[in-house]
Amino acid sequence: MGGYPGHSSVHPALIETAESKLTEAKKSEALIDFRVMSCGDDLQLLMSHKKGCDNGEVHALAWEAFEAATEVAKRLKLYGAGQDLMADAFSGNICGMGPGVAEMEINERTSEPVVAFMTDKTQAGAFNLPIFKIFADPFNTAGLVIDPACHQGFTFEVWDVREHRKVLMDCPGEMYDLLALIGAKSRYVIKRIFCKPGSKISEQEAVAVVSTEKLYQTAGTYVGKDDPVALVRCQSGLPALGEVLEPFALGHLVGGWMRGSHNGPLMPCSFETAHPTRFDGPPRVIAAGFQMANGDFVGPVDLFKDVAFDRARQRCLEIADYLRAHGPFEPQRLPMEDMEYTTLPQVMKTLKNRFVNAE
Ligand code: F6R
Ligand code: MG
Repeated sequence: MGGYPGHSSVHPALIETAESKLTEAKKSEALIDFRVMSCGDDLQLLMSHKKGCDNGEVHALAWEAFEAATEVAKRLKLYGAGQDLMADAFSGNICGMGPGVAEMEINERTSEPVVAFMTDKTQAGAFNLPIFKIFADPFNTAGLVIDPACHQGFTFEVWDVREHRKVLMDCPGEMYDLLALIGAKSRYVIKRIFCKPGSKISEQEAVAVVSTEKLYQTAGTYVGKDDPVALVRCQSGLPALGEVLEPFALGHLVGGWMRGSHNGPLMPCSFETAHPTRFDGPPRVIAAGFQMANGDFVGPVDLFKDVAFDRARQRCLEIADYLRAHGPFEPQRLPMEDMEYTTLPQVMKTLKNRFVNAE
């Protein structure tokens, strides 16, 4: 909604503004509960309600909260105020208007632990590797081997974000085909995970969902990072909380660092330290843990604050040093194809007429 300073964090006044908007909505019973959070320069709204996915009234609420925060950002002259709101007026659904969306409709279980992941300085596709590991890698998720309720695996819904098509893939049966797609994370993005028929949770209900919006597709040009979010349900026939967090101990490489044009390690960090400053990064992910109680969010717990992620952070810093030393060279810089939507083509245009045929 506007960075403070530059693209590094969210000003507390924006959080307060969004909170007061959503408090009104809660009072009028449009929402059951909400939390306003932030990661880097991104503001996130976590909302529960009984109106189902893609509800116009709920999307309008989110839009109004973002608009109100943008007004404050403009008043404070925060950096890039309103950058991610692509339209002047709300058109019924927030999808395609700038903000990323991850919605799921669930029947709350007897006990419903859920983790909200939020990122900054990265792109749609950043969650492919961790979500794959959580729901398909037996070296990550012991439950796939030893819990009969996990043993049959999960169904992956993958989107081709270039062609706007989607496919359901059965895992582990189609694991190699799945990897053939999702390894290309700038094009094929995991959207949802479902249980198989016969599980405790209906196969219609998502157990994980990721925002897949690509900002450049909405704006037609580079305006900022997608900074995706994900919601993951855990335990009792699903991967345990620790299995859901474990892939983030790797610090895997993602695109989106500095000017949306560089690769960097996705560093798991605490809420307090989610302010990317070094070379506008490195990319961050935070994890907010909740128990749901009849739609109320009990929490959050700042899950990556745990000292057990200190080494992962240390490794990310080492990877950051190593990659930074490459400066404008790949693989610190993204491959040419992924630079198509950055500001680089403008620079390349000026060089176009300099070229002559080579022998
Ligand atoms: C934005 C971001 C930053 C900016 C960079 C240049 O999400 O991550 O790395 O791309 O700070 O910003 P401008 O072009 O606005 O000066
Ligand atoms: Mg951001």
